[in-house]
Amino acid sequence: MKKIKKAYKVIKSNIHRRGLCAARDIKKGEKIIEYKGKKITHKQADVNSKYGYDITYLFTLNKKYLLDGDFKYNTARLINHSCNPNCEVLDEYKSAIWISAMRDIKKNEELSYDYGFSYDCDYKDHVCKCGAENCVGFIVREGSRWRLNRKYLKNY
Ligand SMILES: C[S@@+](CC[C@H](N)C(=O)[O-])C[C@H]1O[C@@H](n2cnc3c(N)ncnc32)[C@H](O)[C@@H]1O
Ligand SMILES: [Zn+2]
Repeated sequence: MKKIKKAYKVIKSNIHRRGLCAARDIKKGEKIIEYKGKKITHKQADVNSKYGYDITYLFTLNKKYLLDGDFKYNTARLINHSCNPNCEVLDEYKSAIWISAMRDIKKNEELSYDYGFSYDCDYKDHVCKCGAENCVGFIVREGSRWRLNRKYLKNY
């Protein structure tokens, strides 16, 4: 059976510290890497100072649970956010979270997805440096970015 080459590799990112890039051309819809971690409750995250730093490796599963992805074995933790991402999160089953290609991705393109941060949760704490043309300057989920655009327009 032909072995399929791993789709990603670790890089020094132009967005933030380390990131992942495509190690080969990737087709739209291809599952690239699983986001693995330890299931914890929001309450546990709130009381543990380990989760209070600038760099967050927490992945929200639902209103009760998060996935703490801050483990070496979870290489997917290194994927950065972009306002024009090439990947998306497949979480239909929540038992396994896969990062998959939203479109065809060329070898050496940095992999990114929309972190899905809400506008209400102190968006100003999360400055976005993705460099995309449509970047709104903060890491905010796509569905809420219009609120920021409106703010920008007011300033002109
Ligand atoms: C899950 S880590 C991503 C990997 C990180 N680059 C590293 O080297 O560990 C998430 C953190 O990376 C940074 N980050 C990710 N995407 C970013 C972006 N578009 N702009 C600025 N910082 C970003 C933020 O500090 C965020 O809390
Ligand atoms: Zn951005």
